[in-house]
Amino acid sequence: MCGIVGYIGKADAATVLINGLRRLEYRGYDSAGVAILDDDRVLVSKSPGKVAKLSDKAHADWDAALFHRASTGIAHTRWATHGPPTEVNAHPHLDQSGDIALVHNGIIENYRALRARLEGKGHHFYSETDTEVLAHLIGDCDKGDLFQAVCDALHQVNGTFGIAVLSAQEPDKIITARRGSPIVIGMGDGETIIASDASAIVAHTQRVIYLDDNDIAIVTADSVDIRDLNNIPVTREIAELGLDSAAAEKGGYEHFMLKEIHEQPDSLGNAIRGRLDFDIGSSVLAGMGTSPRELAELSRVVLIGCGTSLHAGLVGEYAFEDLADIHAEVQQAAEFRYRNPILGSRDLVVAISQSGETADTLAAVREANQKGAFVMSLCNVVGSTIARETGRGVYLHAGPEISVASTKAFTCQVAVLLMMALKLGRGRRFSREDGYKLAREIEAIPELVAKVILQNDKIAKIAADYSKNEHAFFIGRGPMYPVALEGALKLKEISYIHAEGYHAAELKHGPIALLEKGTPIIALAVDIPGKDKTLGNIEECRARGARILGIVTEGDHETAECMDDFISIPRCHPLVATIPAVVALQLFAYHVARLRGCEIDQPRNLAKSVTVE
Ligand code: AGP
Repeated sequence: MCGIVGYIGKADAATVLINGLRRLEYRGYDSAGVAILDDDRVLVSKSPGKVAKLSDKAHADWDAALFHRASTGIAHTRWATHGPPTEVNAHPHLDQSGDIALVHNGIIENYRALRARLEGKGHHFYSETDTEVLAHLIGDCDKGDLFQAVCDALHQVNGTFGIAVLSAQEPDKIITARRGSPIVIGMGDGETIIASDASAIVAHTQRVIYLDDNDIAIVTADSVDIRDLNNIPVTREIAELGLDSAAAEKGGYEHFMLKEIHEQPDSLGNAIRGRLDFDIGSSVLAGMGTSPRELAELSRVVLIGCGTSLHAGLVGEYAFEDLADIHAEVQQAAEFRYRNPILGSRDLVVAISQSGETADTLAAVREANQKGAFVMSLCNVVGSTIARETGRGVYLHAGPEISVASTKAFTCQVAVLLMMALKLGRGRRFSREDGYKLAREIEAIPELVAKVILQNDKIAKIAADYSKNEHAFFIGRGPMYPVALEGALKLKEISYIHAEGYHAAELKHGPIALLEKGTPIIALAVDIPGKDKTLGNIEECRARGARILGIVTEGDHETAECMDDFISIPRCHPLVATIPAVVALQLFAYHVARLRGCEIDQPRNLAKSVTVE
C-alpha cells in the first residue's frame, strides 16, 4: 500500500531516496518523508502530499551541504491507514530517544494495547499512527543491539509489516524485515538499496533478493545478512531483475495510463508469443507445471482476485465453461479466506494479481494451499510474493504497469486465461480443429487491439460529450458483462464519475429507477449471442431518456444506428471480443478523466498495490 526505500552506500542518500520514492509513488501518495543519518544524529523531513512536495521541503529543511553529505537513510510514501495524511502522521517515525527512525508498510493490529503499555512507561506519542508505536517499541527493546531490539519488538506485533529501521547509535547498518508486505533488497557496487518493489532499485542494480515472511536482514553498504526472527541464519536466492529503467518512464505520453493503453499490442504480443501450438491446436503454458493427466482429472476451476483482476477472472469463468467444459467459479478474494471454502485436490485455484502482492489474494492463496487445492498464479510482477508462494503459474510479461488504473494487465490476464482454457479444453472435448481456430483468433488479438487504438481521437471526441455527467451505467451480457463491470471501474477510479456496471437484464429489477433524461448508458452491443436481448434492454433505457453509447461490431451498421454514439471493434470470437471491447472503454474513461482535469495516474484515495486487508 505504501512505498518504502532504504539506502546505505557512497552516494548522497537523500537524492537516491527521493528518486526511489518517485518510482514507488503509485503505491501511495498522500504524504511522504525521509530520514538521513548525519554524524551521530537522525534528521527527518516530512510533508503531506506528493513526493515533489517532500523534495522541496527537504531542500528547505537541510542546507545543500547537509543534503548531499549523508550516505545512509530511509524514506516512505504513504497511503494512510491510521490517521489522516498530515506531516505529523507521515513516516519516518522516531522512538522516544529520537535516535531510532522507522518506515513501515502494513498495519500493526495490536498497536492500541502496545501504545497503552508504552504510555504507562512514560512514552509520549505525537501521531495517530500504528507505526510510531512500533518505533517506540523498538526503542524500548533496545539494549545496545538494534538488530535484537527489532526482533524483540516484532515478536510482540500482530499484523503486517515491511520495515526499514536505522539508528544514530549504529550508523553502519539498516535493519529491514517483512511479514505480509513485500521487501526487495538490491545489491549494488558498494551500496545496498531496500525497497517495497524493484522499480526503485532497477536504476542501481539488477541483483536482488526477495525477503520471505518473517525474514529480517542486517544491511550494510556491502553485505546483506538474512535471519529469521529467532536470529537463525536463512539463505535466500539472488535473482536477476532483467528490467530496464526506461520501462518505468512515460516515453513521451502525457500519462502512464495512456502509454500503457497504447502498449497493449506489444504487451499482448509478449503475453501470447511462444504459447500457442498450432500443430496440436492448443497452448503451451509450461509454468502451469501440470501434466495432461493432472489437468484431465481436475473437476473445477476457482478464479480468485480483487478489482480489475476479479473482472478478468469473470471473463475466465465463461472461457473455462465454454471452451473446457469444466465447472468454473469466481471468488472475491477478501471473502474467500473467511467463508471456509469447500476445496480439494481436484480443484484448480487460479490466483489473479497484477502486482502479486494484494493482501487478500495472497491470503486466499494460503487458504487454498491449506485445503490441498491445485493452486497457481497469474501475475505480472516477476518475483512477487503470490508468484513465489504458488510456485507455479503464468507470468503476463506485460511489462511494468505504473498507472494505478490497470489496463494492459487486464487484457493480458484475459488473453492468458483464454490460453489456459484452451489447454484444459484440448484435454477434454475441444477438438484439434476448434483449438486451431481459437489459437489463430488469440494470435490475432494484438492486431484487433491496434485497430481500436487507431480510433483514439474519435473516442476522445465522444468522451467530451459524456465528461460533464456525474453518473453512468455500463451494461452487457455473457462475457461482455464483466467487460461492463471493468468499464465502470475504469471510469469510476480515474474520473470520479459514479459509474456502475450491470448485467443488461438486471437494470429493470431496480437500477433503471435512476435513469433520467441524458443519463449515459454505455452498452456492450457487440455481435455475439445475446446481442438482440441487449438491444431490447437498450430500448428500455432509451424510453427513459437515456443517452446510449454503444460498443458495436465493425460493419454491424443496423446496430450502430440504434445508438446515439458508437465505437466499433473488429469482428472476432465472442470471448476474444472482450479484449478490444475493454480497450475502447479504457480510452473512453481516460479521455473523460483527462477532460475533467483528473489526476489520472494517481487517482485520489487509491494505490497500485493493496497490501493491507
Ligand atoms: C484496478 O485499476 C485497480 N488498480 C485495482 O482494482 C486492482 O485491480 C486491484 O487492487 C487488484 O490488484 P492486483 O491485480 O495487483 O492484485
